[in-house]
Amino acid sequence: MKTILITGGAGFIGSHVVRLFVKKYPNCKIVNLDKLTYAGNLANLKDIEDYANYEFVKGDIVDGDFINSLFLRYTFDGVIHLAAESHVDRSIVSPMDFIMTNIVGTVNLLNAAKTMWKDNSEGKKFYHISTDEVYGSLGEEGLFTEETAYDPRSPYSASKASSDHIVRAYFHTYNLPVVISNCSNNYGANQFPEKLLPLCINNIKTLKPLPVYGKGENIRDWLWVEDHAKAIELIFHKGIIGETYNIGGNNEWKNIDLVRSLCRIMDNKLGRIQGESEKLITFVTDRAGHDLRYAIDSSKLQRELGWGPSLQFEEGLEKTVDWYLSNEEWLNNVTSGAYQKYYEVQYGKR
Ligand code: NAD
Ligand code: TYD
Repeated sequence: MKTILITGGAGFIGSHVVRLFVKKYPNCKIVNLDKLTYAGNLANLKDIEDYANYEFVKGDIVDGDFINSLFLRYTFDGVIHLAAESHVDRSIVSPMDFIMTNIVGTVNLLNAAKTMWKDNSEGKKFYHISTDEVYGSLGEEGLFTEETAYDPRSPYSASKASSDHIVRAYFHTYNLPVVISNCSNNYGANQFPEKLLPLCINNIKTLKPLPVYGKGENIRDWLWVEDHAKAIELIFHKGIIGETYNIGGNNEWKNIDLVRSLCRIMDNKLGRIQGESEKLITFVTDRAGHDLRYAIDSSKLQRELGWGPSLQFEEGLEKTVDWYLSNEEWLNNVTSGAYQKYYEVQYGKR
């Protein structure tokens, strides 16, 4: 039986990856290592927590001794590393948390994998999950390819870029069998409501202002989270060691247009008069260093491994809204307590 370590499996994307692997590979043991920060939530995995091939371990990737002992306890055949501090706005307020988890934590995992596989790394893989934000900010034209030079501009993206470089260094220096993917913005069920879409869904529902940074002109390329999870499965199995794959939805939206679409969908679902939710849109002070545009060229992944996004955005948005509306308890739980404090600091009392 193979054993795979998935880090950050209680988070947004990680929980979709854990579920996919646990259900699809019953002969594979999946160990989910997560610190359960504010963003980690075991409720995301309620439906699979009793599966025989699933095990949860609570722990911090920044703690090198703990990571080494974990790698001694299990003989991992593969690592899929998603654990990270992931929110740009938080990285502007507290960069050190991002340096520690995203950089030091990644190095701890790399060191442990290097030691564990030193005598035989045949068939093993260390898969590092990264973001398109490492490439910086695009103007009106062009797409990020795997060859685009790194130009991170937020503490979050700089910490992810740094970890990508170190992962590649371990490949070149120590022959560690690594693979990296850089994905665009994900959306879907279980995303913590600090990110644009779930935050707006929650605020539309509760009739709170929808804080749009600047003029809402910034553009993001949105991918349904389950399509990202499928890309991760494919790259984990078929990705060439030492390679990088870009993953994107080919689905660019200006923030303001996206928020307006969401308002229209939710007016319908909530039985409100069309236009009612749009009145909640409030333009607020722009994010410092706000990247203008992200857009991914994922043709390498499509061409070489046969991946493609499965869901049209309109359908995905509807599904996402439906999920949040029918999982009120989940939303209420994650927006109580510490979330209120974060919200006040980030957006002021409203
Ligand atoms: P998330 O914030 O929802 O989840 C992160 C998870 O990591 C949480 O469960 C948290 O508890 C855990 N974690 C944080 N610090 C830890 C530590 N020190 N030790 C162990 N666990 C820790 O993030 P996400 O949106 O699911 O992103 C997952 C990964 O995908 C990240 O590496 C992120 O950079 C990358 N990514 C995210 C997106 C996106 O749109 N969300 C896009 C591209 C890439
Ligand atoms: P976000 O979901 O934080 O993802 P990222 O910064 O990683 O792209 O933000 C998506 C876009 O929405 C980004 O351009 C910033 C913008 N945004 C707002 O306008 N208002 C908000 O309250 C948030 C959280 C984001």
